Amino acid sequence: MDEPTVIAHRGFAGVAPENTVGAAVAAADRPGTAMIEIDVQPAADGTPVVFHDDRLEGARDGRPITDAEGLVRETPLEDVCAAEVLESGETVPTLAALLEVVPSTMGVNVELKNPGRADLRFGEALSETAREKRREAWQPFVERVVDDCDAFRGEVLFSSFCEGALAAARDVAPEYAAAVLVWGSLSDGLEVARRYDCEAIHPPRNAIAGTAMATEQYAGFSATEPEIDVLEVAHDEGRTVNVWTVENWLQFAQLRAAGVDGIVVDYPGLGNATV
Ligand code: G3P
Ligand code: MG
Repeated sequence: MDEPTVIAHRGFAGVAPENTVGAAVAAADRPGTAMIEIDVQPAADGTPVVFHDDRLEGARDGRPITDAEGLVRETPLEDVCAAEVLESGETVPTLAALLEVVPSTMGVNVELKNPGRADLRFGEALSETAREKRREAWQPFVERVVDDCDAFRGEVLFSSFCEGALAAARDVAPEYAAAVLVWGSLSDGLEVARRYDCEAIHPPRNAIAGTAMATEQYAGFSATEPEIDVLEVAHDEGRTVNVWTVENWLQFAQLRAAGVDGIVVDYPGLGNATV
């Protein structure tokens, strides 16, 4: 059985301040980390920054993620980059600053979170008219992200829950691999993957048919066995299947046994269980 690729979610958010330079440095030092996953969106001036939530004061286990407040997309770049993440001493980095510390032997999965506006169509396959409008809405931000990625020497994989982001990524930088992030519908995810011939599809951990986890509610999926075997369909179409987000060794073992290609994990070492 091939070992799944280990993708460090926000830089192993379970053991490091998420989406920071410190997390990226630590993730690169962990043996077996193939890739780091990060979330990107623009600050007020359009510069791509690495941050997950819309707001700087978004909550983590009852505490704010940073010591700053406000919508990232409305906050001046210097204020975003001065915001301290989870009292760690680490601050919110620009994408360019984070990529500088990632060795070229490690890949980066850049999740395109929002293009500086909120009226997105999340996790849906779009009509032809809507698709073109959404691509245009994403394009300026994706161009900035691609500029930053072009300075990085390692492998880049773009992913997004938004079809418009993938449309723009394909248009601006077809040389980079792309993955559709699936929210509530495997058929929509597969449709979008086909439309842009995405190299990969990224379903949530409970969307893999035949695993015990498939009957647990998580992300956009209810507690019912998926009707589509996304692993079989995607593999038949030549696409890689990377699954998110795994929090313990048991989940990792289930997905490894199912034959997924990659696993987005919050903790390092989940594939090294001794049982
Ligand atoms: O890329 C997988 C995962 O990061 C998607 O969810 O909300 O953690 O960005 P989220
Ligand atoms: Mg993400």
